[in-house]
Amino acid sequence: MSVPGKILIVDDEDTIRWVLNRKLSKVGYQCDEAENAEQAVGKLTACSTDLVVLDIEMPGKHGNELLPEIQSHFPETSVVMASGVTDTRVIAQCIKDGAQDYIRKPFTLEDVLLSVTLALEKRQLELQIREYLKNERPGLRGFFLETIRTLVNNLEANDKYTAGHSQDVTELSLAIGQRLNLAPEELEDLYWGALLHDVGKIAIDPRILNKPGELTPEEYRHIMTHAIVGPNLVQPLVNNSVVSIISHHHDHYDGGGFNQLIAKEDIPLGARIVSAADAFNAMTSDRPYRTAMSLPEACAEMQRCAGSQFDPRVVNTLMGINRRSNTQA
Ligand SMILES: [Fe+2]
Repeated sequence: MSVPGKILIVDDEDTIRWVLNRKLSKVGYQCDEAENAEQAVGKLTACSTDLVVLDIEMPGKHGNELLPEIQSHFPETSVVMASGVTDTRVIAQCIKDGAQDYIRKPFTLEDVLLSVTLALEKRQLELQIREYLKNERPGLRGFFLETIRTLVNNLEANDKYTAGHSQDVTELSLAIGQRLNLAPEELEDLYWGALLHDVGKIAIDPRILNKPGELTPEEYRHIMTHAIVGPNLVQPLVNNSVVSIISHHHDHYDGGGFNQLIAKEDIPLGARIVSAADAFNAMTSDRPYRTAMSLPEACAEMQRCAGSQFDPRVVNTLMGINRRSNTQA
């Protein structure tokens, strides 16, 4: 099914704009062109646009810098990146910043057509869901979220080692959030961010997810895509704070995590809390490749990684909770 729409092709190369314009117009899309970021913003402001095909390396502002601006100023416009840049960190960041797809140059026209068609179909579906949730049934958003929560529970229940993991991480995250005096709205976001932090694992090959031995670098990369898939999956149903908790829950405090671009206080506090709660819960649970650490061992490990992997303030708070529950036991 092809969804007709208005497309803006942003590329500094005349030939590429011309070829794409011709191909996409031929199948019924209404196309316009811009040769740099400034011209693109002017055209997006002047006329509502369904999708932007965006190059990265252009004179002036680059496409990956323009992408977040499009997302915040024109949230109903989808973006497909089409670029010769092959750096995986740049590609991952574009997807995290909301690009629907990333096509590498040299591309075939069929690749672009397929990507544009899928992105527009997805956009139409999201707009319909948003509209439906806004106008028709206020309770439906809750219904969808409950369905996703059940899906995560079922996914974890299939594996005795991870059963109940997200629920436990949520309880611990909220206990930390309360002690850090988060506002009620922030605790609500933290609740959903923690509960859905691993929702993207739905798309991960279960043989790799539950592999008893050590992961190869390729398998590790595959598993880590859950932090990109998850936010995209729940984006129509939750607010941006929840989306960024899920996106950044594997970021390291010192910036040294996988494909990570931000560090320290730039990482949302909710993500820093979920990161510590997630690791602490994993350390104190059995895994196929090791038995659970004792509480003192896990606390020592968390403190060893405070300042590198984890936010020291969050670790201190977690240690406080642990001391308190040990005293009460
Ligand atoms: Fe995760």
